Amino acid sequence: MLLTRRLRYLYKMSLAVSLRRALLVLLTGAIFILTVLYWNQGATKAQAYNEALERPHSHHDASGFPIPVEKSWTYKCENDRCMRVGHHGKSAKRVSFISCSMTCGDINIWPHPTHKFLLSSQTHSFSVEDVQLHVETSHREVRKQLQLAFDWFLKDLRQIQRLDYVGSSSEPTVSESSSKSRHHADVDPAATLFGATFGVKKVGDLTSIQVKISVLKSGDLNFSLDNDETYQLSSLTEGRRLQVEITANSYFGARHGLSTLQQLIWFDDEDHLLHTYANSKVKDAPKFRYRGLMLDTSRHFFSVESIKRTIVGMGLAKMNRFHWHLSDAQSFPYISRYYPELAEHGAYSESETYTEQDVREVAEFAKIYGVQVIPEIDAPAHAGNGWDWGPKRGMGELAMCINQQPWSFYCGEPPCGQLNPKNNHTYLILQRLYEELLQHTGPTDLFHLGGDEVNLDCWAQYFNDTDLRGLWCDFMLQAMARLKLANNGVAPKHVAVWSSALTNTKCLPNSQFTVQVWGGSTWQENYDLLDNGYNVIFSHVDAWYLDCGFGSWRATGDAACAPYRTWQNVYKHRPWERMRLDKKRRKQVLGGEVCMWTEQVDENQLDNRLWPRTAALAERLWTDPSDDHDMDIVPPDVFRRISLFRNRLVELGIRAEALFPKYCAQNPGECI
Ligand SMILES: *[C@@H]1O[C@H](CO)[C@@H](O)[C@H](O)[C@H]1NC(C)=O
Ligand SMILES: *[C@@H]1O[C@H](CO)[C@@H](O)[C@H](O)[C@H]1NC(C)=O
Ligand SMILES: *[C@@H]1O[C@H](CO)[C@@H](O)[C@H](O)[C@H]1NC(C)=O
Repeated sequence: MLLTRRLRYLYKMSLAVSLRRALLVLLTGAIFILTVLYWNQGATKAQAYNEALERPHSHHDASGFPIPVEKSWTYKCENDRCMRVGHHGKSAKRVSFISCSMTCGDINIWPHPTHKFLLSSQTHSFSVEDVQLHVETSHREVRKQLQLAFDWFLKDLRQIQRLDYVGSSSEPTVSESSSKSRHHADVDPAATLFGATFGVKKVGDLTSIQVKISVLKSGDLNFSLDNDETYQLSSLTEGRRLQVEITANSYFGARHGLSTLQQLIWFDDEDHLLHTYANSKVKDAPKFRYRGLMLDTSRHFFSVESIKRTIVGMGLAKMNRFHWHLSDAQSFPYISRYYPELAEHGAYSESETYTEQDVREVAEFAKIYGVQVIPEIDAPAHAGNGWDWGPKRGMGELAMCINQQPWSFYCGEPPCGQLNPKNNHTYLILQRLYEELLQHTGPTDLFHLGGDEVNLDCWAQYFNDTDLRGLWCDFMLQAMARLKLANNGVAPKHVAVWSSALTNTKCLPNSQFTVQVWGGSTWQENYDLLDNGYNVIFSHVDAWYLDCGFGSWRATGDAACAPYRTWQNVYKHRPWERMRLDKKRRKQVLGGEVCMWTEQVDENQLDNRLWPRTAALAERLWTDPSDDHDMDIVPPDVFRRISLFRNRLVELGIRAEALFPKYCAQNPGECI
């Protein structure tokens, strides 16, 4: 478009002089442009090839974008379903699958909005380069945080529009991309001219997309279960301008509005532009406050990069808690400021460690996506490797039964290890760990102390207390007291522990402790914990354990849990309904969390073990759609939407598992 304008200008100028010279100018211009185009294409190809060689495991390989162009099909909307039709002649305009899907049937975002929404049937095309932010808030810190969130939103859109697959290779850092959007108007005009030729800068129906974000009430950026996560989004086209408004009471609500906006935008491979609706309205709020994912980084180590990738997916699915099971008996990967011996003695290798800076970086990154990082140093059980240096430092035994055999006598899974409940140094170390981790992850009203699966036979070898369970109870209360000291003398309002034999005795006060229930969803403890007044977070092993179903990793014995929990299992699980909870008990349910224990998972499988099953939980907790029909049947519309969401994850470089044959994805409703 800019190119034709320029040519027209050249043409008119020349006409005044002579037609001949004009033609000459045109011809020279065309030859020049073609030459540059040819040269540039060659350079791009060579660069892409070199990149593929340098980064063999990257998605940005020579074959290009993870989602192929499907030129041989066009789609028609019939009865709210997209029908695939062969498109072999070039005459009629092709409608891509995604453009059909986004304008056919129910709203295509995940999780589904809880309240109202309205989408116009008219859509417009645009380029990410024409998207600008306008923030309205009286809170300076919120403005800064929104700017960051918007920068990453734009980065995702660039990825979706595949702009970085044409030329540039480096990912924008936060500061780079923020300066880019701030100085948006200063685009090199020459670059724009050639950009139009090469497809770098394209112009669609819209020439300007203004995203106005208003955060009306809270200036609070501290994570809390009381964060107001509601938001409203509306958009309106005026001429060639689209005005988008996201209105929320807090940063966290606004952040979810951006996730929704991102899903109201799609890439069409016909015109290589982004598309969105001419008008839209969404009013949305979560049903549950705690929507979590737990990752165990002790059985296997996971790089900061893979954790960040996980958080990107969580943000898109509007999940809000990343529970980082940082350490266990197998390894201690965190390099503590006060006690680096823990990692020196406990990490798998020097490179399989997290520095303070790493934890801070993950927490700051997660906040951009509206996700709180909740670190957990499991104690007193699930602690062994890394805790063996006490005697050398004159601190006595910090832990017992470390790697003791036969393991099945002293722990639930090899290797064994359990902290020493009668050594004051143990508590001091925990206190300092809590203190530094809280500094990295920020002020909060929620912390996790672990506390599960103590093996009393381990302690019985050392202590002749008649009440070993009381010892466990005292340990947790002492850990709680140390947490309070670590948190500037204030105990976080919600302190989580795993469910266990201990939480069945009522020794932990229900005013302070929240129980993460990991046992079976039909176990009696579910009812008892609620009756005893505890708040709960459900992580039922029979529904929300994502590590199950991969067989036994030991020579003897059954697999720890089986079978595989499908995304439908995750989605259909509605314990608050099945248990027929009354209003009071229903309020004690803070939410739920999927758990990824990593005995049989490392970075090579992480994405596809987590996704799209984690997304299934996200909708269960955000929207909690009711099952009008059979509890066992997932409605066809859910298949359609989760399939599209899965593609959106793949588009962002998250290697989500396939749901069904691609034929079924291309032909919604035909396989179910
Ligand atoms: C956030 O937490 C910090 C540290 O505890 C506190 O000083 C600040 O007042 C909190 N912000 C709000 C808005 O409550
Ligand atoms: C344990 O340590 C705390 C402070 O770290 C101290 O106040 C307390 O007296 C100590 N207890 C014993 C038995 O040494
Ligand atoms: C535990 O046994 C030891 C001897 O093994 C004894 O000295 C100690 O008094 C006993 N403690 C209690 C509390 O019974």
